[in-house]
Amino acid sequence: MSAIRPPERVWDPLVRVFHWSLVSAVLLNQFVLEEGDPPHRWIGYAAAALVGLRLLWGLIGTRHARFSDFWPTPGRVRAHLHAWLRGERPHTPGHNPLGALMMLALMALVLLLGLTGWLQGTDRFWGNEALQELHEGLANTLIVLAGLHAAAAIVMGRIERTRLVKAMFTGTKEHY
Ligand code: HEM
Ligand code: HEM
Repeated sequence: MSAIRPPERVWDPLVRVFHWSLVSAVLLNQFVLEEGDPPHRWIGYAAAALVGLRLLWGLIGTRHARFSDFWPTPGRVRAHLHAWLRGERPHTPGHNPLGALMMLALMALVLLLGLTGWLQGTDRFWGNEALQELHEGLANTLIVLAGLHAAAAIVMGRIERTRLVKAMFTGTKEHY
């Protein structure tokens, strides 16, 4: 039986506030606010601005917040998958390469929602149904992927015996 790892401080306050603010914004726009009304538009822009801030933080932020720490290069993704197939559980204090791919996809979708939302208000695309459907499709894709992402965080936490979700609140990954 191997020794339990000591707790690791991984997520700085900006990462944690970013995460739960983004979650709230997406859920509000998807399920609560009237579609297309000013609160929906402003919350949508706020979500896109949060992603913009996070992208900047990925360049200048703390160690595990930086893209260089977890950027999912094909080599890193392959090595991670191969290790899994061999039955190993590689230890990544920050994001693992697959989680990082998902994170990038979720952030890209939020930016595309901001863009397609904004375009709907321009003269060129006013009332454009294809654009409305694109916006809706992006929103639905985001919700499905976010559901998978949350489920993966819970399942992976159990497999790795690490409190991953709690760490997004406290900043510290506890192992048990
Ligand atoms: C996190 C970002 C966003 C999410 C998750 C989101 C989600 C949604 C959803 C689920 C709908 C309803 C689609 C339908 O069933 O027809 C919708 C509609 C709409 N959204 Fe967003 N949205 C976001 C950002 C924005 C932004 C930034 C704007 C504009 C500045 C915007 C403008 C609109 C408009 C005008 C509609 C009505 C479209 C129609 O008439 O069908 N959205 N959005
Ligand atoms: C709309 C819903 C969600 C979105 C858009 C979203 C987006 C993200 C993003 C962008 C990150 C990367 C954080 C960073 O480095 O800045 C992340 C990480 C994370 N999210 Fe979410 N998330 C959502 C919902 C959830 C929920 C409901 C949970 C809890 C069950 C969750 C748990 C986590 C965890 C544990 C991490 C860190 C993963 C790791 O340890 O590598 N997320 N999420």
